[in-house]
Amino acid sequence: MRHIMSPLDFTVEELDQMMDLAADIEKNPEKYAHVCDGKKIATLFYEPSTRTRLSFEAAMLNLGGSVIGFADADSSSAKKGESVSDTIQVIGCFADIAAMRHPKEGAPLVASMHSNIPVINAGDGGHQHPTQTLTDLTTIRSLKGRLDNLTIGLCGDLKFGRTVHSLISALVRYSNVKFVLISPEELRVPSYIREDVLEANNIEYEEVIRLEDALPKLDILYMTRVQKERFFNEDDYLRMKDFYILDNEKMKLAKEDMFILHPLPRVNEISVEVDKDPRAAYFRQVQYGVYIRMALIMTLLELHV
Ligand code: NCD
Repeated sequence: MRHIMSPLDFTVEELDQMMDLAADIEKNPEKYAHVCDGKKIATLFYEPSTRTRLSFEAAMLNLGGSVIGFADADSSSAKKGESVSDTIQVIGCFADIAAMRHPKEGAPLVASMHSNIPVINAGDGGHQHPTQTLTDLTTIRSLKGRLDNLTIGLCGDLKFGRTVHSLISALVRYSNVKFVLISPEELRVPSYIREDVLEANNIEYEEVIRLEDALPKLDILYMTRVQKERFFNEDDYLRMKDFYILDNEKMKLAKEDMFILHPLPRVNEISVEVDKDPRAAYFRQVQYGVYIRMALIMTLLELHV
């Protein structure tokens, strides 16, 4: 039985197969409408979410399955002090697969070690968010036609943004991918990503503060919000929150075929005027997220059509 805690739990070939499956699901949704008849997914969300939880639920419903779960820790037995390892053993009696989001790094991993059903890490603290990365890879591959030979800019909260950590870890496996890391000094990528992921793999990268300096060279711009809930002090958050605002004026500096991605939710970092720019891909990205989660559920449950 397999779980997914990090995008590296799957080989590049396996990810390719999953993305091919997602592309077929997009083209022929009716073929997959009953693959999960009689199956249930449990969504165990100890931290707020709109997209990720509903995307898993939509994915399972599209496959003919059904959904149980909770959307906040206060309505679960965690409030009474139940451990994630006990919770997952209980959930294993109710569901065939579980997606867990938790504010503590490693909580889904602990759950997976006690689970008799596949567990999907749906985001653990500031650590990893593998299914957002599958979504991001699928979006890039669909829009650009490739995952190699790209210059990718990541902008915003690179310190606490788990989607950034997962995406960098996944992209270093493709050839000739370069990174431009755009953040204020206080929100730089953590040293374990710089040293153990980028430098250890001899990846070309630069760190810059000004978005304007990076924009002209990018094939993909991955914007992120400042992660308010992970700051220790309100003043630091207030100082950082409007550090970057991408608007139509700045977009004039970008290539015609650059795409803007964002895991969402957006706060102020992309002005709404940019939504009409054909290069704005963040809402299309949400749609790709459903197809790839359908493909992931099928893969983990070893279901085929
Ligand atoms: C991201 C997350 O939860 O890490 N959102 C998401 O899952 N789409 C990004 C964020 O919250 O900023």
